[in-house]
Amino acid sequence: MKVKEYPPRQVVAPGFENLPFDGASRPKENLYALKYSFGTQAIVEGYPSALGAIEKDYPESSKPRAYRLDNEVSRALYLPRLSISLLRSLDGAISIMVCDQKKNQQAGMLQNVDGDEVWYIHRGNGIFISGLGGFLFAPESYIYIPKGMLYAFLPFDAIFRVGMESKNKLLKPSFDGFIKSVPYDDEKCIVPNQYDRYDRFDEYTEFSSGFKSNIVFVKRANNYFWIEYRNSVLDCAGWSGNIYPFLIQAKHLDFPTLSRNHTDPTHFATFATEDGSAMISTFLSRHIHSLPYHHFNNWDEALFYAKGDYAARGGIVGAGDMTFHPQGFAHGPQPSAHEAWPEPKLGKDQPFVDELAIMFESRSPLIPTKETAGMEILDYWKSWSS
Ligand SMILES: [Fe+2]
Repeated sequence: MKVKEYPPRQVVAPGFENLPFDGASRPKENLYALKYSFGTQAIVEGYPSALGAIEKDYPESSKPRAYRLDNEVSRALYLPRLSISLLRSLDGAISIMVCDQKKNQQAGMLQNVDGDEVWYIHRGNGIFISGLGGFLFAPESYIYIPKGMLYAFLPFDAIFRVGMESKNKLLKPSFDGFIKSVPYDDEKCIVPNQYDRYDRFDEYTEFSSGFKSNIVFVKRANNYFWIEYRNSVLDCAGWSGNIYPFLIQAKHLDFPTLSRNHTDPTHFATFATEDGSAMISTFLSRHIHSLPYHHFNNWDEALFYAKGDYAARGGIVGAGDMTFHPQGFAHGPQPSAHEAWPEPKLGKDQPFVDELAIMFESRSPLIPTKETAGMEILDYWKSWSS
């Protein structure tokens, strides 16, 4: 049996001919765009994400949330586990994680057999070491770690990172439809080598005498246990194959942007699973045609704000914060953002938005864990009522 998508259709009410279906959040005076699962765009007269009220017993886990992750209060909560899971999918396949790590906080190697990991380095420098060798890392980079790889982050100073674990393999997306693109050139990926290990690893071990390269903390079914091998797991002389960690810098990502339409955020996908169960996208500094449209998302989404003023939710969240928008809750730019930016801009009038944001998406509903107390910006969901 084969299945086929339903064919695209378009219906417009009398008197509304020439509606611009270009994805702009406010296509005309007193009209707004509302996207359903990024497949169909409705143009409506009422402000689509203005919240009136919600049921008294509306589940806490289904409300939008915001977290202030990168501050002193939050950092104290990460200890001593290094990383915590903020959100975990109902089926257990996806976890959104945050980690704050000091330079002496690594006793041994790690091995995650629950799934692939992708980490975004927000702050700090260090060396990433693995069973295949190592490489240096710096902020504004992603590090991909395949399931089962032996690895450790050895920070030269305190590092702060956010990431996703996925039971399904996180791969490189590509688009070959109306827009043809891939997010990065494979040649730009930095893969483990055996040279950094000798250059900088000794420097690291000097100030971190507690680190043992023959001890492995295995994460399996969300529990950690340790194994001590007789030999260091870092004595790789060379490797060959297609399972390896790598680093890609945000400055080497390359996404298409449309000058006459609002670019669908799907085109900023940087890592994705083959079955569409999870995706990580990057919003880079760029010229923007219009504010994002209002929408009902097809995935639960967690957005980490790394840099800049985020135009659509200005004043509520900033760098170092993360928002969580579950499915079933219309969201989009706040009214004040519309006032500041009422209509699409073309050509040289298009504003350059200097921002960097990382979006983690999960098809299966994400449930906030109990580890987030003290990090939340309380009643964030009410920001849609104002
Ligand atoms: Fe969204």
